[in-house]
Amino acid sequence: MKVVRKVSELRSVVQQWRAASLNVALVPTMGALHAAHAALVTDARNRADRVVATIFVNPRQFGDDEDLAEYPRTEEADLRQLRAGGVDLVFAPPVDEMYPERFATSVILTGPAEGLCGAARPGHFDGVATVVAKLLLQCLPDVAVFGEKDYQQLLVIRRMAQDLDIPVQIAGVPTVREADGLACSSRNGYLNPSERASAPALYQSLRSAAQQISDGSDVLPAVSEARASILDGGFQAVEYIELRRADTLDNPSGRDGTPARLLAAAQLGTTRLIDNVGLTF
Ligand code: PAJ
Repeated sequence: MKVVRKVSELRSVVQQWRAASLNVALVPTMGALHAAHAALVTDARNRADRVVATIFVNPRQFGDDEDLAEYPRTEEADLRQLRAGGVDLVFAPPVDEMYPERFATSVILTGPAEGLCGAARPGHFDGVATVVAKLLLQCLPDVAVFGEKDYQQLLVIRRMAQDLDIPVQIAGVPTVREADGLACSSRNGYLNPSERASAPALYQSLRSAAQQISDGSDVLPAVSEARASILDGGFQAVEYIELRRADTLDNPSGRDGTPARLLAAAQLGTTRLIDNVGLTF
């Protein structure tokens, strides 16, 4: 497994693969890798001859009051995990390779970037879209793989690639969870033992509300019950719980049997956790 820090080196390796008619999958990450990232790599390996993983903690997607400085940086362990997973090339650029002096361009989305996490984190999805547009154009893979845990992010990236005519397929991988249901996340490491014990309440409450709604219950009472059980479970605040269409994140126009998602963000101590579950509505 080769590790490169420059766009020119990434391009030259990918070009050699292309010349040999090999296809390429890309797995973008911010490092601090865990089991879910390993699942993304496995999925990527099944989709292409060669896998590129990127490690870049993207400053442009963190708000001023967010955890950029504290975000875990564990490159040595990350590289071990990627090597064991069969990654062929790691692109881990320094900040000034991605954003040199006088960098002045942003990718700004409406549509799926509005509401939900977009409401609480202004500019976050523009930062994600900008860095992912760059990574896609730097590597030009056949397919890029993202997790459904960050469902709004997945749809933002899909929309951005389509709108900008970036010829890369955007693939989604189901959420990887701990044994008790908590979605794996680099931020779970911020939880103290009592918060960690409370954390599965988010998924349990979402799952039970999604079941009630797909069994025919009205949305509002099911969502209020989920909100109450997340708070009872030990969370301090529920930022949102919303039912949206799975394909666009628009509000569902009514029960018509289309795929939907119930998405939530909630505060546990100083940590903000998100999760979502699929259902038919
Ligand atoms: P990061 O949080 O490192 O996540 C990298 C990828 O792993 C994303 O596609 C994310 O959705 C996926 N992932 C994380 N936890 C997951 C879980 N429990 N199950 C399934 N997939 C999971 O997301 C980012 O980085 C960044 O925003 C990035 C896309 C790299 C742009 O900077």
